[in-house]
Amino acid sequence: MRTLIKHALAATEPKDALTINGWVRTRRDSKEFSFLQVNDGSCLAGIQVVADGATDGYADIAHFTTGASVIIEGSLVASPAAGQKWELKARRLRLVGPADATYPLQKKGHTMEFLRTIAHLRPRSNLFGAVFRTRSRLAHAVHQFFQERDFIYVHTPIITASDCEGAGEMFRVTTLKGNVDEKPEADFFGKRAYLTVSGQLEAETVACALSNVYTFGPTFRAENSNTARHAAEFWMIEPEMAFCDLLGDMDLGEEFIQAMARYTLEHCAEDLAFFAKFVDQGVLERLQFVVERPFQRVPYTEAVEILKKSGRTFDFPVEYGVNLQSEHERFLTEEHFKSPVTVFNFPRQIKPFYMRLNDDSQTVTAMDVLVPGIGEVIGGAQREERLDALLANLKFHKLKPEDYWWYLDLRRYGTVPHAGFGLGFERLLMFLTGVANIRDVIPFARTPGNAEF
Ligand code: 4AD
Ligand code: MG
Repeated sequence: MRTLIKHALAATEPKDALTINGWVRTRRDSKEFSFLQVNDGSCLAGIQVVADGATDGYADIAHFTTGASVIIEGSLVASPAAGQKWELKARRLRLVGPADATYPLQKKGHTMEFLRTIAHLRPRSNLFGAVFRTRSRLAHAVHQFFQERDFIYVHTPIITASDCEGAGEMFRVTTLKGNVDEKPEADFFGKRAYLTVSGQLEAETVACALSNVYTFGPTFRAENSNTARHAAEFWMIEPEMAFCDLLGDMDLGEEFIQAMARYTLEHCAEDLAFFAKFVDQGVLERLQFVVERPFQRVPYTEAVEILKKSGRTFDFPVEYGVNLQSEHERFLTEEHFKSPVTVFNFPRQIKPFYMRLNDDSQTVTAMDVLVPGIGEVIGGAQREERLDALLANLKFHKLKPEDYWWYLDLRRYGTVPHAGFGLGFERLLMFLTGVANIRDVIPFARTPGNAEF
């Protein structure tokens, strides 16, 4: 029976018989002994294995090289070495799969760029092991957060015919050959279809029946932006609440980020300590800060004033009516407020059709949550629940009401004020781990020009 290294290392007393399976990280030979560091990914730490001439299979020790997979039986004994409580005194060594000197992860200290070219092997490095374990735990934390609050998990479709964000950044899904626009009605779905940019519109339909719902799934954007925070395929979390306004929406978004920071501190301590040491020295302090301090809130108009008065020259000049760029967002959160900040009430022309028009007729009930190091992690809104106002909004954005007939029906039958948001899971992970590039918090990144693996 196999014991995961994480459990072996957590033992409270020595154990006579134990089998571990894993991959050799390093081997050091002395005259009479060999020391192996073996890692199985169950935790950051590896276990030290001590073997000698009396160990069954020791004749083969030269093949226990970096990257080789092994099965080792032995006893768990107190380790005389500093920094580790236990080691495995091997009785039997078995080589499962050898790895020769061409194994690319021989030494430590590879660049992130190089590791991206070996995305199939990088999970075996300390950093990526830590990232993917943290990703898994946070995925669990996301479900726990919503389930504890009686939100119902909805699977919204990946293939869709509607462009939720209206930005035209969608990947086309088609089985047509040649000119795909000639006869869209002959296509597989009888109309043009795309990979979804958001599950929001469908989530709204379910929220208008089950009250509080959330989605958590793959999302696609064909925006050709090669930045450290944009991926063509990413995971989005989208809560949607019936009988909720913008304030309730902001409350939930901020509470969610705080809960994720708290969960990381409590449940990912070993990996987090690694991030603090090798990736981002400020990460622990940042998470503590987020957990303890309320977020700042500022209306868009005021945010623009702050930026204009900042004395900064931005690459993109700020004016009322422009979208906030990453540099503006980061100035607000990192330098001006020095805290996460929620910007709300944006001009209607820069936001999608579904947001609720404010009484000033100029702004809509949008909110973006900005965090240091990243900028926007959350984009959300109170939705336009009034049929006439929504029809006017569609017209304003030059969209056809007949394309949204079912969405409009929600406003025809038992309409309710409702609100929700979308949070990019990878951006959240960047914030919580300090990893600076979105390509390094997802196992296989999809970005312009990259779909290897
Ligand atoms: O602000 P966005 O575009 O909002 C929506 O899609 C709404 N329909 C969500 C809703 O209200 N239910 O996207 C939401 C979040 C962003 O704040 C960002 O964190 C993430 O999704 N995001 C991306 N993450 C990685 N790569 C990209 N290309 C992203 N585009 C958006
Ligand atoms: Mg947004």
